[in-house]
Amino acid sequence: MTPEQAKLIKLSFAPIIGRKHEAGKIFYQRLFETAPEVKPMFKADMNAQSEKLMSTLGAIVGCMQDRPSLNAMLENLGRKHVGYGVKDEHYGKLRAALLWTLEQILGDAFTDEARRAWTELYDMVASVMRQTAHKTASAERPLRTGTL
Ligand code: HEM
Repeated sequence: MTPEQAKLIKLSFAPIIGRKHEAGKIFYQRLFETAPEVKPMFKADMNAQSEKLMSTLGAIVGCMQDRPSLNAMLENLGRKHVGYGVKDEHYGKLRAALLWTLEQILGDAFTDEARRAWTELYDMVASVMRQTAHKTASAERPLRTGTL
């Protein structure tokens, strides 16, 4: 992520946070339309969930250039997601719903450069979360005895 991309992400995130309730609603509506199989995983109140997602996105944007802090936060989040039943293949669906939401809110201000910057950020976030999930899942797998 270049400093220009970080600046672009911060600039484009401001209107999203300004309309965070609407953004959260649009996002989950789109996610459940395009990936109905994930809906049953969400047990909590969706307003509260939307609030948590927006504040976490804010935290990610706030520390995206401080990799040690970002990684610590994402490793924690990645471990929690194993417990929710989230699998690798779900991350792509969430990325599409997120980019779609940004486009709905930002309109023409969601330029190709902004899309590329957000895509890179999301892929970096998802990659740390998924790697942690893999480590967590293999650590939880019972040890087999008698085999090398
Ligand atoms: C960049 C990726 C993601 C971010 C930033 C993110 C963020 C969050 C946050 C902040 C929470 C609340 C955690 C808490 O209560 O402490 C959460 C919960 C959850 N997330 Fe994610 N998430 C991501 C990816 C995904 C994906 C790909 C799925 C798959 C469908 C998913 C499904 C869930 C579910 C099922 C919960 C629990 C909801 C409940 O308690 O009812 N998340 N997520």
